[in-house]
Amino acid sequence: MIEEQVARAADMLRAASQVVALTGAGVSAESGVATFRGAGGLWEGSPVSEVATPDAFAADPVRVWRFYEARRRQLAGVRPNPGHLVLASWQDRFAGFTLVTQNVDGLHQAAGSSHVLELHGSIWRVICTGCRRRRDDRCVPLARVPPHCDQCAAIERPDIVWFGEILPADVLAEATAAVWRCEVLVVVGTSALVYPAAGLVHEAAAAGARIIEVNPEQSALAALAAVAVRAPSGVALPQIEAALSEG
Ligand code: OAD
Repeated sequence: MIEEQVARAADMLRAASQVVALTGAGVSAESGVATFRGAGGLWEGSPVSEVATPDAFAADPVRVWRFYEARRRQLAGVRPNPGHLVLASWQDRFAGFTLVTQNVDGLHQAAGSSHVLELHGSIWRVICTGCRRRRDDRCVPLARVPPHCDQCAAIERPDIVWFGEILPADVLAEATAAVWRCEVLVVVGTSALVYPAAGLVHEAAAAGARIIEVNPEQSALAALAAVAVRAPSGVALPQIEAALSEG
């Protein structure tokens, strides 16, 4: 029963002061963003897992940028949904709240979350392949494809973690510290199949945190979660928030 799961989740959160939320593609599904494993995974006939790679970029940067241009165009028209809004409000509800996401879409920030640990980078940031300078770029379409660094003239790439690359060490360290400290970890809309992001859930459990899962489908986390709210996050999170507000 969803009401019962919501009530149990709210009880756990009410008693907590240190809370972490870990989100995946599912939190943006109700905004109209396709999830990774639900999207068919093809772009111009190629698996996305072969387009979003360092090798593909080295071979043909324009082709890889056209893929990201298409995604940026789609995401530019997308708005946060009630699930993002509830997570943004939790930065004020709890004494310590950390939001960790695997998403690159920027919708948590658009909803008002001020500090988002982006494990896989951001589609709205580029990084120079030469001098490694990062900059925000929200232009859709980009002024030039591929974009070039105006300091060293090298090609810029999306500041996104591609298949086969390692996560930004500072972001992962901050996320790991937060899960070690938290009393409750809320895992929203992730299949929890991709490591090391999924490993954060195991770390939290090992450190004694209670785990709440919000996902309409059963995921790899079923055995770890103390409560699983089996509903879309745009419905479930506002219900949990309503139960918290009622006291
Ligand atoms: P997935 O596509 O693997 O999983 C999405 C999850 O969201 C599934 O478990 C769905 O059941 C769930 N879901 C669908 N609709 C939902 C809704 N309305 N509310 C809540 N949950 C819903 O996406 P991720 O777990 O985010 O990595 O994938 C993780 C990583 O895999 C991505 O960040 C990406 C990919 O490889 C990189 O790009 C490095």
